[in-house]
Amino acid sequence: MTEDIRTAGDEQDAETVRELAWRSKSVGLAALDTDDAEFMHHWRSDPIAAHHLGIWPRSLAAVRERIERDTEDDDRDDFLILSPNGTPVGYVALTGQNMIDGTAEVELMLAAEHRGHGHATAALDAVVDLAFGELPMYRLTAETHTDNATALAVLARSGFTQEGISRAACLHRGRRHDLAVFSLLRPEWEELNRPRAWDA
Ligand SMILES: CC(C)(COP(=O)(O)OP(=O)(O)OC[C@H]1O[C@@H](n2cnc3c(N)ncnc32)[C@H](O)[C@@H]1OP(=O)(O)O)[C@@H](O)C(=O)NCCC(=O)NCCS
Repeated sequence: MTEDIRTAGDEQDAETVRELAWRSKSVGLAALDTDDAEFMHHWRSDPIAAHHLGIWPRSLAAVRERIERDTEDDDRDDFLILSPNGTPVGYVALTGQNMIDGTAEVELMLAAEHRGHGHATAALDAVVDLAFGELPMYRLTAETHTDNATALAVLARSGFTQEGISRAACLHRGRRHDLAVFSLLRPEWEELNRPRAWDA
């Protein structure tokens, strides 16, 4: 399914129309492109994102190269999240896709200036619907620091269950952090009483 959305408001000319790979009621998802490297570089530089995702500082060129490499990888799908007026507001990905076991991981990052408007929840719901509605996934997982209250709230609201804690699983700023491990299984998604992305 593909539809068009403008990338930065109604004033944009036709050249900036972005083809959507997936859309829901309140966000669109466009396949991440190397031209999006500047957005990703900027968003990754935000101290909160850097802290919670344990991001290693990278040059713009390195971010671009990474996107290029990831595009070749069949095990993942990376998306730019676009708000209803077409503004790029964040990034969401379905990584580590294992089509035999039906498992994948979800990654999510919102631009600091676009947080708190429900875009993260909408994008997470959208990518979850993609994973269960178009791909044969059975189990999705997500991990975040146990003190990342916003992410814990977003994951819970999208139907994920915290199944455990990976103790001292990551090192950041000289300190070990526990990671909360969340999962959402297909039968649980089927039970969710909310419109699906394709109902938009
Ligand atoms: C986590 C993140 C994606 C959330 O983005 P967002 O745009 O703020 O998310 P949303 O607006 O969809 O939802 C945030 C929800 O968390 C709630 N929330 C925010 N801070 C909270 C807190 N301290 N305790 C409990 N709930 C909190 C908000 O109230 C909101 O719920 P509501 O709409 O019912 O009020 C964003 O903060 C981010 O990119 N963080 C850095 C990277 C990261 O942590 N990624 C997650 C890895 S899984």
